[in-house]
Amino acid sequence: MEYRVDIHVDGSVRTAMAKEGANLLEVLEEAGILLYTPCGGRGTCGKCAVRVSGGGTEPSGNERRLLGERLEKGFRLACSFAVDSDICVHIDDSGEQAVILTAGARRHVVADPPVKKKYVELPHPSLGDQRPDLERLLDHTGAESGGKGLSDLTDMGMGPETLRKLPALLRSSGYRVTTVEAWGRILSVEAGDTTANLYGTAFDIGTTTVAAYLYCLNSGKLLGAASMMNPQRKFGADVISRIDRAKASRQAADEMKNLAAECVNGLTRQLAKEAGIDVKDIYAAVFSGNTTMLHLLAGLDASGIAVSPFIPVTCRTLRLDADDLGIEMNECGQAILLPCVSAYVGADTVSAVLSSGMYERDGISLLVDIGTNGEIVLGGTDGMIACSAAAGPAFEGADITFGMGGVTGAVDSFKLQGFRYTVIGNTAARGICGSGIVDTVAALLDAGAIDETGALADERTAAGLPREVRERFTVTGGMRSFVLVPEQETGIAGPITITQKDIRGIQNAKAAIAAGIETLVAEAGISYDDIGKVFLAGGFGSTIHIGSAARIGLLPRQLADRVEAVGNASGSGASECLLSRQMLRSAEQIARKIRYVELSASRIFSEKYIENMMFM
Ligand code: FES
Repeated sequence: MEYRVDIHVDGSVRTAMAKEGANLLEVLEEAGILLYTPCGGRGTCGKCAVRVSGGGTEPSGNERRLLGERLEKGFRLACSFAVDSDICVHIDDSGEQAVILTAGARRHVVADPPVKKKYVELPHPSLGDQRPDLERLLDHTGAESGGKGLSDLTDMGMGPETLRKLPALLRSSGYRVTTVEAWGRILSVEAGDTTANLYGTAFDIGTTTVAAYLYCLNSGKLLGAASMMNPQRKFGADVISRIDRAKASRQAADEMKNLAAECVNGLTRQLAKEAGIDVKDIYAAVFSGNTTMLHLLAGLDASGIAVSPFIPVTCRTLRLDADDLGIEMNECGQAILLPCVSAYVGADTVSAVLSSGMYERDGISLLVDIGTNGEIVLGGTDGMIACSAAAGPAFEGADITFGMGGVTGAVDSFKLQGFRYTVIGNTAARGICGSGIVDTVAALLDAGAIDETGALADERTAAGLPREVRERFTVTGGMRSFVLVPEQETGIAGPITITQKDIRGIQNAKAAIAAGIETLVAEAGISYDDIGKVFLAGGFGSTIHIGSAARIGLLPRQLADRVEAVGNASGSGASECLLSRQMLRSAEQIARKIRYVELSASRIFSEKYIENMMFM
């Protein structure tokens, strides 16, 4: 038996048919609607709530717990809902426009890309010049012949297919051709002068978001930037969920790889269209990202990353034919996956170190990239150490009752005086993102509405607070909570609150990052006074208010005046490696130079973590 599912989204209605018992989340996905599903559809995060009218099985215990009073308003968890009649589904969240940070502090890099083009006009053959076609070409391009047998030619990089086409190409073009070269080899030969058409892309493949950049490789000019949510997020917010999914079966691993490729291809097509160029004129793509994301992109088995002792397949730079990864560009296009340091300090960190310039800066710098894992690097020209602190997804909103990513509708700043707040996109508030959560906790600490143990003031202790603050205390899902945005100002059915559980989540997350920083400082045998500069990388690092971060103990107060937000430093590093072979070499040196400190084996970290659970 099949049922009709009318999906109200973006002011229009799409209709899908669903078999009896079909999972609503899957029905929506098939209809092209991807919801935010940080728990991977396990029914534990509550983020896939949609409004359903008509039919439906009895709400599960998880739905009752996570949706509370929203159940009465028709909300259900799509991942827990089995279709058993014709229904209407209202997607209130689909209008979210991801505000994904693509901007980063880009240094001036002289264009010397790994893939180049060379136009040559060859002398026509004659009885006095009987050189073979390939030798004739190599003599005028400077590319070195590795030998005379076909196997040597293949080693040289001119694949058999290019060699087979060469005679016809030379003659039809009147011996005027352009070679495409990389790594000292000829990748392809094109008729006529095509040197003007040489473009490349750089990607930062984040667990949550993907940022892409299109460059002219001749001039080094940035032609456009674009971003989208990582489509793999439907399998969970964190890398472990993705790895678990990928290792379930060969088919699941392929699906994960294909999702990455589709995302890259979608962004590539968008950028090419906006710049008015042909995708076939893109010859190189450089990828930065954490170790897991790059493994999944390359189709490598990432399962060793998820379990102790945390072993990836490789941390080396990978130079692959883009075609092998299913990535659209010129048929000879090259995909370069940047080097990583360890299972949990990936190419994104290497790229951030590169683009921040900390590796060549005098004195000691600290780089912090706060995400589900907080990657932290300490050092400078004399050496660097790094760690990865498992902060959990609280700063990305995933474990927070009304948490959401940095998207339209998210409260991104909050002040207690006048209960002022700002919302991304200037729309009615629908949730709260990381910077808003940090602001809120800082403000409540300052007001005495949260004590140093992280407890929200109870009836008795709240008595000393100003009346307007007292009146904001309420109960959400059976938990004491504080109203950030009252119901009449939100774009959802009910107020936006921060609960006691949310505050515990923030305590855990900030303790992990702060303890990671203190562990590296202790490992290096230095004090905060020795640190001249703090680079804050990533989207969260760019939107967070430093004063609030220092107030809750996420960043050391002593360093608050030395902080510089460097934006999407991972994307900037990937761009630099796309434009410059020297930068690519520097990235490889950085990856080798960084010593990884495993926090799960560190007694210092355990002690510091407990200390940092308190709000000082
Ligand atoms: S509760 Fe449905 S995706 Fe998490």
